[in-house]
Amino acid sequence: MDSLCCFAPGRVELLGNHTDYNGGYVLSAAIPQGVRASGSGRSDGLIRLSTLIGEETLLRKVSADETFPFVKTGEWSDYPLAVVQALRDEGHRLGAFDASYRSDLPSGAGLSSSAALEVSTILLLSKLFGISLSGMDLARLCRHAENQFVGVRCGILDQVSSLFGKRDHAIFLDCLKEEVKLVSFPHDVSLLIVQCGIPHALVGGEYNARRFQCSEAARRLGVNFLRESNMAQLEKSLLPDLERRRAAHIIGENERVLRGVEFLESGNVADFGRLMTASHESSRVNFENSTPELDLLVSIAKSTSGVLGARLTGGGFGGAIVVLLSREDRHQAGSLIASEYERRSGHRAHVMECDLADGALIANGFVS
Ligand code: GLA
Repeated sequence: MDSLCCFAPGRVELLGNHTDYNGGYVLSAAIPQGVRASGSGRSDGLIRLSTLIGEETLLRKVSADETFPFVKTGEWSDYPLAVVQALRDEGHRLGAFDASYRSDLPSGAGLSSSAALEVSTILLLSKLFGISLSGMDLARLCRHAENQFVGVRCGILDQVSSLFGKRDHAIFLDCLKEEVKLVSFPHDVSLLIVQCGIPHALVGGEYNARRFQCSEAARRLGVNFLRESNMAQLEKSLLPDLERRRAAHIIGENERVLRGVEFLESGNVADFGRLMTASHESSRVNFENSTPELDLLVSIAKSTSGVLGARLTGGGFGGAIVVLLSREDRHQAGSLIASEYERRSGHRAHVMECDLADGALIANGFVS
């Protein structure tokens, strides 16, 4: 069988932090970096996964007929195998195959390398085994794979962003209706993604704890999802301090996303930038998913010429910030932020100048 190749990008979350699993709104974009999965069918009954990390090729081989659930190893290969399992559980017939992965997406940076791995896998398998699913079904299956088999109870943001992105557009996602709208991104501004040098780890721990605290807050407010509540209700409620702050973050983020879409549509980039900075402040104070390093990066970015706003992006607890700034300043601002951060923290920041890119559906010709 001929070898096929599918690319899935990472994503940057622009506004709407931890809102996805609260049935809320998110504004994100696909980025140029991502995961490329190449593969073909095999006739020997094996699933053979390989990836090149530095000089080393990592390999995992399992029998395609082996009774799933597969044995989780805590390694990268759990993600593709989780996708295989999710497809099988839905009744899709998959044979033996080879898949090899290449990535230019840093892992642990909050840019969704795991979703890119899942999405590139599901598209490759769809092509290899003639499976036809809508973009949203692909996203749901990948999320299910990660929730059920890898053990991170993430929402649908990362998978949707990787699939539905469009060059020069932000993605507005309504997570309750599971609907996407593309919003044109002004040309005179650009993004920097600045990694703080300390990877985040979402598996278990704080991420799942936040999810639990949000669902507890929703329960006490008498709603199914925090999306259905508002600040006035929250102020009148008698929620304990911790849950009140968690709910304030989610409710505030939902409001910021809706206003942010209006600002982008009217080209008001200055106010959009202010919303990003307000989002970070809420992460720091209310959601407590920032870190001293991310706070330092945001504070340095804010005082750098040309910068309109900055916030942590993704799950938090390490990873990266995203900076909105005027396009003409981005090169100089990136070096200034990195050198000042290194001087003050002792950590090396990694800066990516980032354009809003096509998602996997477009990149692989699933939609034009
Ligand atoms: C991670 C998760 C997403 C989302 C973000 C925070 O990236 O995978 O589902 O919850 O964190 O917004």
